[in-house]
Amino acid sequence: MKVIVMDNALEISKAASDIIIKQVNNKHGSVLGFATGASPVETYKRIIEAYERNEVSLKYITTFNLDEYVGLDRENVNSYFYFMKDNLFGKTDVDFSRVNFLSGTAENMEAECERYSQKIKESGGIDIQLLGIGTNGHIGFNEPGDKFADGPFAVKLTQSTIDSNKKYFEAVGDTMPEYALTMGIGDIMRSKKIILIATGESKAKAVKELVEGEVSPACPATILKLHADVTVFLDKESAALLSKDR
Ligand code: PGA
Repeated sequence: MKVIVMDNALEISKAASDIIIKQVNNKHGSVLGFATGASPVETYKRIIEAYERNEVSLKYITTFNLDEYVGLDRENVNSYFYFMKDNLFGKTDVDFSRVNFLSGTAENMEAECERYSQKIKESGGIDIQLLGIGTNGHIGFNEPGDKFADGPFAVKLTQSTIDSNKKYFEAVGDTMPEYALTMGIGDIMRSKKIILIATGESKAKAVKELVEGEVSPACPATILKLHADVTVFLDKESAALLSKDR
């Protein structure tokens, strides 16, 4: 796991977007795994800027997103589909017929997870998976627990995740769903390359566990130590608790 501490979120977004843009330009039909939340937003902005300068086209990429809230349809402003449309897809030439999402409104969750798992396989696998990290060490919505999940599954969100994300729902007078569908740890680990972004003091404990802790489902992100190609981008605040002699 390569751990890179940068001055701020802007520097991180430049470095992370460079890797993604290079991937897209080097391989026609690249398969990208995207994340939602605050962490990747600046990186998406840099990709949009590169698209506007004609330095990259997203027309032929296939995309998979990590997760989606149960009960929210694509038009809901708090759905992750809406987030991606608003923060990246709708501002570039992404072809929506190659955008893949777990459906939060599927009648049969199990069948929906199986469908998504098949889609990832049929795509040939994810070339780069972008990740944030929860304050509790989750990746996607793989919450702390006693085992790692392989494929996509329905998850009950922990109080820590609800506390971190409920502000987005409260802002529009809604209550946050308690369940979500998420890619499993196996899906994430089968990605060829992984980029994790963590910024801010609130992530410092989870980052310390990720970098210095043992691999354990109690901090799901720690599994990334077993992957051959992971780059972790940190700002000074999220890296603040790391040992100096690392
Ligand atoms: P954030 O969420 O980017 O909004 O901090 C990250 C996560 O929960 O994985």
